[in-house]
This record gives sequence, C-alpha cells and structure tokens, in this order.
Amino acid sequence: MAATIIDGKAAAAELRARVAEGTAEFRARHGRAPGLVGIQVGDDPASELYQAGKAKAADEAGMISRRVVLPAETTQAELDALIDELNADDTVDGMLVQLPVPDQLSEVLIANRIHPDKDVDGFAPINLGRLVRGEPGALPCTPAGVMWLLDRAGVEIEGAHAVVVGRSLIVGKPMALLLTARSATVTVAHSRTRDLPALCRSADILVAAVGRPEMIRGDWIKPGAAVIDVGINRTDAGLRGDVAGDEAAEVAGWLTPVPGGVGPMTIAYLLANTLDAARRRAGEDTETGDE
Ligand code: GUN
Repeated sequence: MAATIIDGKAAAAELRARVAEGTAEFRARHGRAPGLVGIQVGDDPASELYQAGKAKAADEAGMISRRVVLPAETTQAELDALIDELNADDTVDGMLVQLPVPDQLSEVLIANRIHPDKDVDGFAPINLGRLVRGEPGALPCTPAGVMWLLDRAGVEIEGAHAVVVGRSLIVGKPMALLLTARSATVTVAHSRTRDLPALCRSADILVAAVGRPEMIRGDWIKPGAAVIDVGINRTDAGLRGDVAGDEAAEVAGWLTPVPGGVGPMTIAYLLANTLDAARRRAGEDTETGDE
C-alpha cells in the first residue's frame, strides 16, 4: 500500500493561523505586535530565500518583521554590537542570525550572545539546557515542527523505535530529545554508524537529517513506518530530500515530501516561538506550538 503523504503546507497553515490569532490577541492586550528581526551576513542565495520567506510569514501573521543584511566581511565585534542593540530594544521579541555564517564569525559566540528570551531559533545554550531538562523554553524550529507533523498525522510515538539519522545541534540532537520526552525509544545514527540500512529498517519512525540527497533507499524502510525527510538538497536534477521519495512511498506508512513537508513547518514554528517570546517577555505564560 502506498504511503500517506504528510502535507506540511497544510499543517503549517494550521499553526500559522493559530499564531495569527494569538498575535492579534497579543496586540489587543499590549498595543503592539510581536517583533522579529532576521539577520543575514553576506548574500548567499539560499539564505536570502529563507530570510525573505521568514519575514513574509511573520508579516502575514500580523507581526512586525525586520530584515538586516550585513556585508559578508562583517566582524564578530560588529555583529555582537548589533545583537546587543537588539537585545536592549523592547520592540524586538525575537531575533535570529541565518546560518551558515562566513568563516570569521562563530556560531557559538552568536548563540551565546543572543538573549535567551529572544532566541527564537532555540539554539542558545540555556534553551538547549531547558530542552534536556524538560523545562519550558524555545524549541529548535525544525524538530518541533516534525513533532507537530507526527501528531497531526496520528503517528503513535509512545513506545515506538525512532531512528534519527544525523546528530546536528539544529536537528538531530534536539529531535532525539523531543522524541524521548514523548516516550519513543530513540537511536541516533550518523556517518560512523555500522550497518545503517539494517538499523533504519528497525525504525517505526525514521527521521532523516543528514544532508545527502536520496541516501535513504526504499529497502532501508520498515513497511508501514513513518518517514520524515528533513533534507533539502539542491542537485542538478532539482530539489531532493535525504530519502529516495519514490521508493519510500511504496513502503512507508507515512512520508513527508520534499518540498512541502518539513520545510514549511520550520517557518511556522519560528512564528510560534516569536509569539511565545513576546508573551513570556510580557509576563504571560503560553506555549503556542503545544497541544
Ligand atoms: N539555517 C538552516 N536552518 C536554520 C535555522 O533553523 N535557523 C537559522 N538561524 N539558520 C538556519
């Protein structure tokens, strides 16, 4: 039987509608809309596209979005000064620095510099620590979006064996923590994992976040499994996921397409995090992305 294709655009539209409603209510209570600032260093075309998409989505949700594009040769001190300024700006509830950044800049220093209350990417050490501890805080957008998709699709998480392929700070590691918190049994696989195909075949939930086009083949998938493809790889043949989609669709129970699967959820969650940041900063207590 062919897999159910999980419609990430529709799922994201649902979360974005919820955020838009919450944004209107926030504005009515506080006389201002939540503010989001996206910082981009250099003119990488992919970053440009992502940043434009994030700003447009924030505007559509009724937020106040601002984009700052800095020259590629910006120094750490210059970027720090901008972050400090935005940390101190009361109209700014969330900010993010689009990754990757040029070599002279440090992702670690950036993550440490952004005030944790304004860290809508969920990359700040304190927010990652909260995730480990199970305390409320900003969740990294992509893995949080994956949880939303699994829930919307009705995939049973409790007791399932989840295999996360990829151990990045942005996706793999937080993904494993979120699945563990929901009582999945999680294995994190990576480039040194032995017999990866066999391990993947044991997964009820398979999350692919490696950045290698169509690496995961149809015969790596357990029949009926939920397959979540986080990969966005630009190839000569066009945009490809980390999963060979046509093959996977024949075997899996659920499958996220590329594009139109996880990608739209990442942006929707960024908006949810921005609204939550505004609410927390205003002394309110709500989790927009939670049930
Ligand atoms: N680059 C790729 N994904 C992300 C993300 O989620 N946030 C930021 N800031 N940069 C990224």
